[in-house]
Amino acid sequence: MTDRHALPAGFRWGVSTAAYQIEGAVEEDGRGRSVWDAFCERPGAVKNGESGRLACDHFHRWGEDVELMRGLGLDGYRFSIAWPRVRPAGRGPVNGAGLDFYDRLVDGLLAAGITPLPTLFHWDLPQALEEEGGWLQRDTAHRFGEFAAAAADRLGDRLPAWITLNEPFVHMVYGYALGIHAPGRALMLDALPAAHHQLLGHGLAAAELRARGLDVLIANNLTPVRAASEAPEDVAAAEAYDALHNRLFTDPLLLGRYPDLGAYGVGPDLCGSVREGDLELIAGPGLDGLGVNYYNPTRIAAPTDPGLPFAEAPVEGVPRTHFGWPVVPAGLHELLLTLRDRYGHALPPITVTENGCSTDDTLDDAFRIDYLAGHLDALARAAADGIDVRGYYTWSLLDNFEWAEGYSQRFGLVHVDFETQRRTPKASYAWYRDLIAAQRAAAATR
Ligand code: FCB
Repeated sequence: MTDRHALPAGFRWGVSTAAYQIEGAVEEDGRGRSVWDAFCERPGAVKNGESGRLACDHFHRWGEDVELMRGLGLDGYRFSIAWPRVRPAGRGPVNGAGLDFYDRLVDGLLAAGITPLPTLFHWDLPQALEEEGGWLQRDTAHRFGEFAAAAADRLGDRLPAWITLNEPFVHMVYGYALGIHAPGRALMLDALPAAHHQLLGHGLAAAELRARGLDVLIANNLTPVRAASEAPEDVAAAEAYDALHNRLFTDPLLLGRYPDLGAYGVGPDLCGSVREGDLELIAGPGLDGLGVNYYNPTRIAAPTDPGLPFAEAPVEGVPRTHFGWPVVPAGLHELLLTLRDRYGHALPPITVTENGCSTDDTLDDAFRIDYLAGHLDALARAAADGIDVRGYYTWSLLDNFEWAEGYSQRFGLVHVDFETQRRTPKASYAWYRDLIAAQRAAAATR
């Protein structure tokens, strides 16, 4: 990364994780069951029958992990608070012992000079709420607001900014439409109420956070959508896909309305789930920041099967991660410019809340270094183009439980031996540490 592409002074450097992917200790200190505990027990649901039961044992080893973060010289750490630790049954009494864990973690981070950035929902819904319908039920949004209030009452004195949801698109599609993530429902378009109820939950949680003087962000998985050709059918299919993946989760937040889902045969009430006042609540007084999780662009062609108005086409001629995801750093620049063109003054400051890759090498992860350098260049170009970018949280600190892929996809700056729980920094760890130091020094002299 060249100084020409330097990021602005005050830019925050971080790493990102999520509770179920690293904590383990699923039965400790009164934690309730989550949809992921249940999903992992389903034969064939997760590769090799693996689960987050132990994961990185971060619940016990968080002190060592904070030291690893201190070694990186981070400004910020994005993690998630497990709802089933705080309200084991999703409703009812708050489990103080569950909050004690985050209390210790937050104090440890602050002592290391790192600002914690919590996410309230990173896919681990209490199983008791799933049994009442999960995010298909409107009531879950209200329970989420209550959970946000309980967490903020305990930790809000030390945490200035909060992320409500992580990737409601991925949770809706993988969890409710296709059934390849928890809770494992394959409802196709009947999953759409799970989009609205998550966003309503965001609105209710945001109101609780704002009432306590806290900043509110949301982390969305966004992708620049490219039509496979200029043929009108491909262009129309790309627009339909863009509406589902990007606009469905950003338009209501920033514009106070849902995009046109006519291509799906769905009206503006999202299968009957939208009620009067909901959109005002979702948009609220505006976000303090938009978290962007960027991994790759998406190429879309005209549908080949009836049922959906698009078909995914491969992105060709680029390297691929171990997961098979195409590596297109320029897509991040393209995405941020599209957001600015689309939302103008309604676009809040951007923080990249996830970006990273899985690799199959162990410690000498030159592929990851190239990946991160390329994306940071793209981000710096977006900043030079006038986009207000405030931070970058790479995914992830540690190799961890990668959902349906089990432990087969390693995204960490730090290698984890899952037999011994030994942590070993990879080459990318030293690279990221040096980059942060150099960027900070350069910013100080500008
Ligand atoms: C994102 C998820 C995160 C992680 C990365 C690789 O979609 O938010 O938990 O699994 O992908």
